[in-house]
Amino acid sequence: MSTRRKFLQNSAISSTALLFGKELFSHENVFESVKEQPVVISTWAPNIKANAEAWKILSTGGRALDAVHMGVQVPEADPEDQSVGYGGLPDRDGRVTLDACIMDENGNCGSVMCLEHIIHPISVARLVMEKTPHIILVGEGALRFALANGFKKENLLTPDSEKAWKEWLKTSKYDPMITPGGLMEKNKQQVIPGQLNNHDTIGMVAMDAKGDLSGACTTSGLAYKMHGRVGDSPVIGAGLFVDNEIGAATSTGVGEEVIRIVGSHLVVELMRQGHKPEAACKAAVERIIKKNPEKAKTLQVGFIALNKKGEFGAYSLQKEFTMAVRNTKEEKVYTVKSVF
Ligand code: GLY
Repeated sequence: MSTRRKFLQNSAISSTALLFGKELFSHENVFESVKEQPVVISTWAPNIKANAEAWKILSTGGRALDAVHMGVQVPEADPEDQSVGYGGLPDRDGRVTLDACIMDENGNCGSVMCLEHIIHPISVARLVMEKTPHIILVGEGALRFALANGFKKENLLTPDSEKAWKEWLKTSKYDPMITPGGLMEKNKQQVIPGQLNNHDTIGMVAMDAKGDLSGACTTSGLAYKMHGRVGDSPVIGAGLFVDNEIGAATSTGVGEEVIRIVGSHLVVELMRQGHKPEAACKAAVERIIKKNPEKAKTLQVGFIALNKKGEFGAYSLQKEFTMAVRNTKEEKVYTVKSVF
């Protein structure tokens, strides 16, 4: 790892730790010793802030669905987070297009794909779930539905993201390699010639005090993608899956690879067969490698999972994937084990 990358990663770790005034990072990779309820877990270290928002609901007896909904709104509204919501890096036409989905303990789900101009796509996805006979709305239809329901049309392309896009246009090189360190590095260093620093969806799953599970997943998708491209994040079963009898899982990374194996559903089904969360995530990652061993070496995919007992786990293809956890015992970021 380059010194610069180490520095950026360490800076991000220190600032998050300082923010909460204690050591939040563990390198133990021991997830499954903690069985606490309620609990919320999210992809990527900076989403400890999203967990804190979810925790306000979980710790006061609220529903997991509300917790994940409110939790993922944090990065959606954060202009510094260039892979989710407002401030997300645009597609190659300079358009910020957002994907999100949500799923509750009863198998209800809602999704929006390629939605523009709405800062909280997760809220639109929830409304699709609760107010329509459908599960998925895309593009213009999703926007029309959002506006008809009182959402405000906004410009989501921040000056920083516009600058990064214009820089990218100079080469227009598209290579959806996700740098292992993800968000922490990408926010500091948006364009490396010849390599895209791509990117970090937030996937969040939670169990409330009643023992009910829900999940949410939201992203601006791969930077500089073709207009209209949709990744795994809003695809129920790929980017997110919840089965209230078994557990819940969500993913981050190159969505095309997750869709190919219907990753989050696979993780939940593996837990149904008796795998612990970490083992289930590992088996899903190995499935990606089996399908294309050479390609798998060049990209990042990570899964996180929570079972009905409150045990959690994660696994990724590449190093430096992190998972943020909040329950009654800990508020912590774990470095996740990886294959490579
Ligand atoms: N995992 C997010 C995406 O591929 O868009």
